[in-house]
Amino acid sequence: MKKSADRTGGFFWHMRALVARQGLWTPFRHEVDAWLAGWKPPQRKLVLIGPSAGWCLPDSFLTRFDEIAAVDIDPAAPRLFALVHGRALRRAGVSLVWSNASFFADPAGVLDAHPQAAVLFCNVMGQRCIQVRDSAAVEAEMLHLRALLKGRSWASFHDLLSGIASEAPAPRSLDRAMSAYELLSSYGLGGEWFDHLTGQLLPADAPRRILPWRFKRDRLHLIEAGWVDG
Ligand SMILES: C[S@@+](CC[C@H](N)C(=O)[O-])C[C@H]1O[C@@H](n2cnc3c(N)ncnc32)[C@H](O)[C@@H]1O
Repeated sequence: MKKSADRTGGFFWHMRALVARQGLWTPFRHEVDAWLAGWKPPQRKLVLIGPSAGWCLPDSFLTRFDEIAAVDIDPAAPRLFALVHGRALRRAGVSLVWSNASFFADPAGVLDAHPQAAVLFCNVMGQRCIQVRDSAAVEAEMLHLRALLKGRSWASFHDLLSGIASEAPAPRSLDRAMSAYELLSSYGLGGEWFDHLTGQLLPADAPRRILPWRFKRDRLHLIEAGWVDG
């Protein structure tokens, strides 16, 4: 597997997202929208981890909740999120509070602060291997987080694998986890692929959807999306 990946978050992320969300990213955004439409947690409160400006999050999902708490390290995220989603949230009477903090500094503290909320990890878990260079520590963190989330309604869409490709294969549903090798072979994808170390975040027997995302014209991310009912 390749040892580097594109960084996301911050100024360049926002510039790319602003241009691509109505173009190259449109099919991926529609897939995220359709996947989230199927997740129906009973909670009226939602915690968003790493939502950025919500470039890929649909209003129709966010407005299903009464209260949203968002946690992102990017200080620009609240203002940009307000530009993208503010009007829809105001119309629907959804309250939104922000925390400009690292979720990973105290995951238990963040979750304990919102005991009655469903939790959505917004394409953030695949960035952990860029922030923490120790692969074993990242994989241990995924398992620890899964344990912390026990009894919760939670969902995550995250980078599983990324690499060079100029076409996006079709999205697909899986009954359970598949190894990186099996998944890439099933798509007929060769070459070097970066493993984002998120393969153990969802329980192995949880159904999931693979959403291919053409992040750039020549770069494909295979996003894994799944939920766990509390
Ligand atoms: C790929 S972007 C998410 C995009 C988002 N799903 C959207 O629709 O725009 C990843 C986000 O995770 C945030 N992030 C990265 N590390 C974080 C951490 N430790 N705690 C909270 N947020 C974090 C980044 O600031 C960035 O906004």
